[in-house]
Amino acid sequence: MTAETSTPKQILVVGSSNTDMVVRSSHLPRPGETVLGGTFLMNPGGKGANQAVAVARLGGQVTFICKVGSDIFGHQARQLFEEEGIDTTYVCTDTEHPSGVALITVDDRAENCIVVASGANAHLLPADLAGIEKVLDRTEIILVQLEIPIETVEYVASLARERGKKLILNPAPACPLSRELLECLYLITPNETEAEMISGVKIVDETSAVEAAARIAELGVGHVMITLGSKGALVYSEGVATRIPAYDIQAVDTTAAGDVFNGALAVSLSEGHSLTEAARFACKASALSISRVGAQASVPYRNELDVTELPLKD
Ligand code: RIB
Repeated sequence: MTAETSTPKQILVVGSSNTDMVVRSSHLPRPGETVLGGTFLMNPGGKGANQAVAVARLGGQVTFICKVGSDIFGHQARQLFEEEGIDTTYVCTDTEHPSGVALITVDDRAENCIVVASGANAHLLPADLAGIEKVLDRTEIILVQLEIPIETVEYVASLARERGKKLILNPAPACPLSRELLECLYLITPNETEAEMISGVKIVDETSAVEAAARIAELGVGHVMITLGSKGALVYSEGVATRIPAYDIQAVDTTAAGDVFNGALAVSLSEGHSLTEAARFACKASALSISRVGAQASVPYRNELDVTELPLKD
């Protein structure tokens, strides 16, 4: 699919693409410990790519900007994006650095630890975004994360502000954020740890989560949505906090749950739904994803979401 064939209400995702090497293990290793693990799975990942795939599978029109190496992983990633119906016009190839790789361990409680060798992702620079005016014109929502250089994220933020586009920042993995960047955001979607880092508020319950969200809003962000894992999500908008309950589902692997949440959120918002409606849709999509192994391997399709009834947790 090319830029010329896409329709209005486009979602633009700018971010990372990795190949995930996943080993299951009874527990996550402590420093110095060797663990004899279980099965090995190699599947496509990277927070940006996972979010772009989630948008495509859930019915959104998506352009993805990323940088891959000129190697087998990079070629495979580009081909997979095309098969998903993602506009790959602006997928860049780096001839000097390899494609990103993530080493992931998933334990019996479905928790994970991830180490990323960023490779080409660390070289996606503002210059690589030259010539994206056409796609910006028809973009409504831009989704970014923090696995690419912060200067690129800040450049995207400045474009979004100039063009009046809705910019969603999923601040993962956490890093210091400038006030100027925060002021460009329509919405920020931290998990509890990231929200604590940005707000300085320790989240121990719903009251402290609301306090953290309020502090983040005070930094100039339009709206705040904190993902609370098995407790759902908290939407904080114009001084009003609404908790969205989680779905009751057996977790197998939580890798990419946040990415599926963000992709689904962007799709629902692009369809004109409110923040709380979009958060409900996103909670359901991420619930389905944690019932399966892998990152992109776990991303649900729109028809599955529409026909699957899931019980709420509380
Ligand atoms: O959010 C999950 C993702 O983080 C994985 O797919 C891995 O590649 C890392 O980027």
